[in-house]
Amino acid sequence: MHEALIEVESVKTGVVEQAAYEHPWVVRFCHWLNSVALLVMIASGFQIFRAFPSFGAKIPQKDLLHWPRAFALGGWLGGGLQWHLSFVWIYVGTGLFYLGYQVFSGNYRQVLFTPSDIRGVWPVVHYYFFFGPKPAAREVYNPLQKLAYTSVLGLGLLSVLTGIAVWKPIQSSWLAWVMGGFHWARIWHFAVMWAILFFLLGHLIMVALHGWSNFTSMLTGWKKNPEYLVGTNLPGQDILDEDLPDKDLPVEDLAGEDDSLRRLSSKDPSADDPADEGLAPRDPASGDGSGQTEK
Ligand code: HEM
Repeated sequence: MHEALIEVESVKTGVVEQAAYEHPWVVRFCHWLNSVALLVMIASGFQIFRAFPSFGAKIPQKDLLHWPRAFALGGWLGGGLQWHLSFVWIYVGTGLFYLGYQVFSGNYRQVLFTPSDIRGVWPVVHYYFFFGPKPAAREVYNPLQKLAYTSVLGLGLLSVLTGIAVWKPIQSSWLAWVMGGFHWARIWHFAVMWAILFFLLGHLIMVALHGWSNFTSMLTGWKKNPEYLVGTNLPGQDILDEDLPDKDLPVEDLAGEDDSLRRLSSKDPSADDPADEGLAPRDPASGDGSGQTEK
């Protein structure tokens, strides 16, 4: 599911491309701010861990791992705690804002892994890891992406719950109890952090493999020529937005990607006249249907 599609024509080459508005600004804003907060949380978390780098009773004294000082933030235990407990507000705030937006806008359908996605996971895994045939892309996110994104949201929630149990083990003693006690809560917190790092590694590899247009879609919201539209004819799409002008979509962001692009057309399914099914120029932003668009 996505908000809207438009076509853009290169003034220089005349090549017409399709673009889909995939990521609303709230999602992009929360994604990037949360990413920064997460990196600070991890680096400062390692600083805190360096103060007691073990999960045992420290008898005999044996460190679990010597985390390099260069990859820790805060300088010492107190500094690490200050960074950690400051950025947790941004981490939690952007997480709640994102979740609230997804639920109330209905955009969660694009990313939430549901039972109907289960069958689609293996073909994608087969393709990526065992050189299988490429499954046809039908949606913004393939089933494996949905699984990964839904799981990482769950991990984000767990990181906060285990963190609360470690931070306030007396006040939240029931939470620490559910996790097997304070020591186990600490281990879970650590394990969840590694799971998120593991996700991030895979996420970054996939982002690198899927090219520039995929990456910039998380900056501008627009993705050019998404795979699920290949071979489709824009004016015939039935998945297009019902009332594009009202959406106030930031089409300028797309044009900004390449100065030579100008908007050609967008589909308004309410226009039933078959004659309108051509590429009648229309400017979704102006809302006047004139099609007189800027670059
Ligand atoms: C710091 C480097 C990161 C980069 C370059 C990056 C890049 C991207 C890109 C390009 C997408 C869109 C993928 C697509 O349209 O196919 C995306 C989506 C997503 N990323 Fe990241 N990401 C980063 C960090 C993170 C982190 C740290 C997390 C969470 C732990 C995360 C979680 C997500 C989620 C959940 C989505 C789906 C969002 C939605 O549509 O609701 N990303 N990322």
